[in-house]
Amino acid sequence: MSKQLNILVIGNGGREHAIVWRLAQSASVNKIYVAPGNGGTATDSDKIVNVPHLSGSPKDFEALQKFAVDNNINLVVPGPEQPLVDGITTVFTKVGIPVFGPSAAAAVMEGSKAHSKIFMDKHNIPTARFQNFKSVEEAKKHIETIDYKIVLKADGIAAGKGVLIPETKEEALKGLNEIMVDKNFGAAGDEIVIEEFLEGDELSILTITDGYTFFNLPAAQDHKRIGDGDKGLNTGGMGAYAPAPIATPAILKKIDELIIKPTIDGMRQDGTPMNGVLFTGIMLSPSKEPKVLEYNVRFGDPETQTVLPLLTEDTDLAQVFLACAEHRLDSVTIKTKPDMFSTTVVMAAGGYPESYKKGDEITVKSPLPANTYVFHAGTGEKDGKVVTAGGRVIASTAIAPTLRESVDRAYVGVDHVSFTGKYNRKDIAHRAFRDAASTSQGITYADAGVSVDNGNLLVEQIKAKVKSTARAGADSDIGGFGGLFDLKKAGYNTDDTLLVAATDGVGTKLRIAQIMNIHDTVGIDLVAMNVNDLVVQGAEPLIFLDYFATGKLDIEVAAKFVSGVADGCIQAGCALVGGETSEMPGMYDEGHYDTNGTAVGAVTKSKILPKIENMKTGNVLIGVTSDGIHSNGFSLVRRIIEVSDYEYTSVAPWSKEGKTIGEEVLVPTKIYVKQFLKSINEGLLLGLAHITGGGLVENVPRALPKNLQAKIDMNTWEVPEIFKWFGKQGKVPYNDILKTFNMGIGMVLIVEEDNVDKVLSNLKASGETGIVIGSLVDRKEGEEGCVVDNVEGLY
Ligand code: AMP
Ligand code: GLY
Repeated sequence: MSKQLNILVIGNGGREHAIVWRLAQSASVNKIYVAPGNGGTATDSDKIVNVPHLSGSPKDFEALQKFAVDNNINLVVPGPEQPLVDGITTVFTKVGIPVFGPSAAAAVMEGSKAHSKIFMDKHNIPTARFQNFKSVEEAKKHIETIDYKIVLKADGIAAGKGVLIPETKEEALKGLNEIMVDKNFGAAGDEIVIEEFLEGDELSILTITDGYTFFNLPAAQDHKRIGDGDKGLNTGGMGAYAPAPIATPAILKKIDELIIKPTIDGMRQDGTPMNGVLFTGIMLSPSKEPKVLEYNVRFGDPETQTVLPLLTEDTDLAQVFLACAEHRLDSVTIKTKPDMFSTTVVMAAGGYPESYKKGDEITVKSPLPANTYVFHAGTGEKDGKVVTAGGRVIASTAIAPTLRESVDRAYVGVDHVSFTGKYNRKDIAHRAFRDAASTSQGITYADAGVSVDNGNLLVEQIKAKVKSTARAGADSDIGGFGGLFDLKKAGYNTDDTLLVAATDGVGTKLRIAQIMNIHDTVGIDLVAMNVNDLVVQGAEPLIFLDYFATGKLDIEVAAKFVSGVADGCIQAGCALVGGETSEMPGMYDEGHYDTNGTAVGAVTKSKILPKIENMKTGNVLIGVTSDGIHSNGFSLVRRIIEVSDYEYTSVAPWSKEGKTIGEEVLVPTKIYVKQFLKSINEGLLLGLAHITGGGLVENVPRALPKNLQAKIDMNTWEVPEIFKWFGKQGKVPYNDILKTFNMGIGMVLIVEEDNVDKVLSNLKASGETGIVIGSLVDRKEGEEGCVVDNVEGLY
């Protein structure tokens, strides 16, 4: 056993909480002191002690040194940049205590943006074009002469606020004044970097290094803006996920070769070797060229909360830090969990990043779900209670085998935390789920007339998106001959597991997608039609394969289609493991396509539905709402529109948002998987009916024994206007419409009366509402299997 370490961590943010949380798991750690710490650091483990009277400010340096000596500290880990820039490292190295962090001279890489640009220029490290200025007049002249969009950066540290992105020349000149004349960021604005604005996707690469050897933690993507869709003011970071699917192995290799290695070698050659974490902010251009935006010399916040839970259990982080501090990183191993994703959602105080309140009580409901963690940032203690004490208050992190699952779970963690004014972004990781839809690169190739193999290009375009559907049991790497699935890895006992398969298409809804030129949602319909048929048998969908046939392959259309399929798979929790694209001129017209999908799922023998033999009079029917027409009744829809004065592009008379008829009918079929898995596993359901072609009247009896009839009362739910409009417009007889559309109910659950409350509350917990719509009664010879009352007068 290595010697028992007493560690001193400096800082009080979410980053520091994650660091001490992970250090406390090391068998080689005896005690961790956190100066000053926060409301969360001291609560994780009795190894951790807050030292609230000390901070990383230079006025405390002497006291910190004494504290370290008195408490036999044998490793110091400074969290934030300011103490590093202020030279905290030598405070301890002078008395022989190793520090995981750079010297003040190396910290200049973060402390001076002008310096870091000169460094990159000198060492040929790709970055935005730039010039540094100490004189306002010369900076002004430069702005007048350039014709590209720019970014203004105050040279020094400005609490993450010293970067301005002006839209116009006037704004640029105003920004220049704010930084250099009004000194809004103080002395940080004595010098300015004026650089080219770069488009693309950002990546945070956190590299653990001793100045020679280095190890990159999984590439993360931060969300700097306060609002959803990356809108609004800049913040310290509102959430992150890792590994980011855009950081493919090829791109990571390029980043290592062009950026990380030259930076670490360059710093050493310049006499200021790096030790600690080099955090490189990178912009990946649309053509996938990485350029450096900035260097930091410390862990990122919230990236640290995201990536540290991805370290394997056998990685001893304390020994890794110590090895860096002793310049022997190659003597220890660091590993991250393969095939795991992590997502962090930051919860802020209402008003942040502008003024906000402090002192509100925070409650964290326990237990948290498995693999979900809550890291404190701006929290403190008042009268024995944990209270808000900063802008970014607390964060929830979850790790899971797919990115989608880790996002969903992180948000479940968010729901466990309450305080007045809690604010968080709702769309963390949205860029990862959007990626395949952006096909600009492929289109440019084709437009340029470059000879390309369209099929291969399509595979390249969709690979990352398809990969994001990976789940336990399947890796979703496409391009091979077939998809493998490991049932054991998915948690199934192979002795009593049955496979269930379903295959289905989307039907003539596809024509409307083609007419409307909206191709990214019919893939969701395709997945829905298949997985909903698995769920009604009690099965969990595991893998999916799609077939796409067209007269002429349009990569943009096909990529959008597959992107929709991947979105559907993510929603259903199944892996997209393969597919086929077929170009058949003469078989289909140009612009036309057809599709079919196959889903395979698994069910434990005892959970198979429906349980016909257990059904009896008095069982309750619970309806779950649909999202619209779903994928059935489109021949009727098309006929009604054809003979009417309406076009698909006309505003839908029933739409409150002014959407077109085309958009309204294309709303994708709801995927009913995650809503029901809990009730299925708890054995609460007798049966399920997916309401597709044939409507309620034909689909509900499919789940019933011949001696029982479903009696449904249409007054129990609000039939959506879209159905009434089509019914009225086409003067469709009530009997017909009942057999054609779902009328607002997409799934029907058959439940014993005693279980109704439990099922309704499970549905509610999954964000779904169930409505009791009827019950089972005796069915006599010659009677229908389903009767729907109160349809008359609907339109
Ligand atoms: P920095 O502190 O240099 O990382 O800048 C803060 C944020 O400003 C970055 O995370 C980017 O979102 C943005 N930014 C900085 N430099 C550039 C640039 N050259 N082009 C586009 N955005 C930038
Ligand atoms: N998340 C960005 C930073 O730590 O600077």
